[in-house]
Amino acid sequence: MKIAVVGTGYVGLVTGTCLAESGNEVVCIDKVSAKVELLRRGGMPIYEPGLAELVHRNMSVGRLWFTSDLSKGIADAELIFLAVGTPQSDSGAADLNGIWAAGCEVAAHMTEPKIIVIKSTVPVGTNAGLADRMACVTDIPFDIASNPEFLKEGSAINDFNHPDRVVVGARRPEVLSKLHELYQPFISIDRPFLTMTPESAELTKYVANCLLATKISFINEMSNLCRGYEAVIDDVQRGIGYDKRIGFSFLSPGVGYGGSCFPKDIRAAIHMAKAIGEPARMMEAVDAANEAQKRVLGRTILEYFGETAREKTVAVWGLAFKAETDDIRESPALVLIDDLLRAGVSVRVTDPEAIMNVCAIYGDKLTYFDGQYDALAGADAVAIATEWSVYRHPDYVAMSGLMRRRAIFDGRNLLEASQAARHGFFYCGMGRVAMGVDAWTDMRLDITLEESEDASVEAPVATNAPRKSKRLSTRIARETASFA
Ligand SMILES: NC(=O)c1ccc[n+]([C@@H]2O[C@H](COP(=O)([O-])OP(=O)(O)OC[C@H]3O[C@@H](n4cnc5c(N)ncnc54)[C@H](O)[C@@H]3O)[C@@H](O)[C@H]2O)c1
Repeated sequence: MKIAVVGTGYVGLVTGTCLAESGNEVVCIDKVSAKVELLRRGGMPIYEPGLAELVHRNMSVGRLWFTSDLSKGIADAELIFLAVGTPQSDSGAADLNGIWAAGCEVAAHMTEPKIIVIKSTVPVGTNAGLADRMACVTDIPFDIASNPEFLKEGSAINDFNHPDRVVVGARRPEVLSKLHELYQPFISIDRPFLTMTPESAELTKYVANCLLATKISFINEMSNLCRGYEAVIDDVQRGIGYDKRIGFSFLSPGVGYGGSCFPKDIRAAIHMAKAIGEPARMMEAVDAANEAQKRVLGRTILEYFGETAREKTVAVWGLAFKAETDDIRESPALVLIDDLLRAGVSVRVTDPEAIMNVCAIYGDKLTYFDGQYDALAGADAVAIATEWSVYRHPDYVAMSGLMRRRAIFDGRNLLEASQAARHGFFYCGMGRVAMGVDAWTDMRLDITLEESEDASVEAPVATNAPRKSKRLSTRIARETASFA
């Protein structure tokens, strides 16, 4: 099939490339001509694992090309996907100006009937609203289908190629069967092609993201409870996850969700509810809980340092909103950085892919490092804000040699607390009992010395002895006094 994709961002480029890889002729169109030129020259505007190879392979056999000339791009296309951004507007609603502009531009350049497919995440009624707008521009008949995308940055190619389901909303059976034909290589008995009205398809995307965000905010709140009561979230996770009604997915605590989807989609869902006079109590709570969660790691670090924070240096490992992407939109790492800078902390940052994007915002307010260990020189603590796998098994001996104070604040629960403590580190995770040499006074009563993996370091290890139950902030405040 001949396909045009309007909008060559994270979704458009992955969609176009995977459709080309499955044998279609695809043109990706973007209004930013510099992006188009970069792609034509073999460069990549985004980092997504495995994408560059697929783009190059399909370009080299002539199945994939790029243009900023929309009229040329859509001329032969049987299906025209719209994958432009739908960012949050000031009211919280999705800003649909990109969709209206792209749709009307398509309408203005159509010379024969076309099927337009909305891939972007759009509120209910957008399909119908776009049809009205396009009909004002052209007399040529057209169809509009709604086909929300569920891929995740970082595993986008696998997600597109092996979707849990494909959702398509359209009014005419001919349109549904055309899209069924296109998606045939990607669907199977347990990866169904689900058809419904455009309104249901539009809402399905929001409901999915709202539920996933709810799970994240829920487990984050429970992890804060664990920390306050000295329960261990890892144990609680196991305790609930084996219940088949609950399961394990999206139930890992962390620094809050970010990215270009969850935050804006939850707020757009709130706006949608209010527009019809329905309350959105749960979504408002999820959004508020997430905003608060983004500040937990920074607050913990600042409580730990107390009044000495201004003299301290913190290394931040991970800037992207999640691993395997360079996307920093609404990244919790940026909230952490802002909180630390505001308190006068010197901040050194590193990330395998996102440094340039962060540098474009913060400039010389931060110090940037390619290597995770380079960022540690002279640091008083390291904060892990993104779950990159390179951070999972750090060289504690090297870290000890580089850092001024050995303290780890693990916002993603990547590390084994006891292993960090055995190497002489104070370790504080999310919803875990903090442990290590700088842990608060009564924690020290619970530690025994064991042979250290680093012989130069005394090795405190937490036992299972019962501990006093006091809130973290009180305990940190007391401990701070002992090393400030
Ligand atoms: N990023 C994700 O993980 C993800 C996942 C599922 C759904 N979505 C949804 O998909 C949509 C696109 O998201 P994204 O992250 O790819 O956005 P993006 O900002 O990365 O890309 C959008 C692209 O569209 C281009 N564009 C805008 N208007 C245009 C026009 N009139 N003509 C041509 N090009 C135009 C922009 O230049 C940009 O390159 C959004 O609605 C988003 O909510 C995103």
